[in-house]
Amino acid sequence: LASTEVDLSAIQPGQAIKTTFRAQPLFVRHLTPDEIAKADAVDASSLRDPQTLEERTVDGKKQWLVTMGVCTHLGCVPLGAGEGENKGEFGGYFCPCHGSSYDTAARIRKGPAPTNLMVPEYKYTSDTAILVG
Ligand code: FES
Repeated sequence: LASTEVDLSAIQPGQAIKTTFRAQPLFVRHLTPDEIAKADAVDASSLRDPQTLEERTVDGKKQWLVTMGVCTHLGCVPLGAGEGENKGEFGGYFCPCHGSSYDTAARIRKGPAPTNLMVPEYKYTSDTAILVG
């Protein structure tokens, strides 16, 4: 199956882009220090799908959040990747289909989705590029 290379260099802090990986939406997000602090301020053990931001990112690259753009409820594409889109009440992604809100680590915080947005397999090919898949 095909891999997808993503150039990170043009993604500004606070911005998330939507691309595709194996015919499904893929979100790549450059977290701001404030968004990282918000994710870290949450007690992960209190979450529906307990994971820290560290567990969802690569060591030393906590500012880059790479997830599938597929709601884990029934598969809609959440909003929040792209200019001016609705990031929802937890500042990450919002699925308009049935109201699932994800936080700045793309962890489910409210609504029917059972699990966090999935983090695919990926690796850094340079400081500013990743290869997904
Ligand atoms: Fe996203 Fe139902 S598909 S909330």
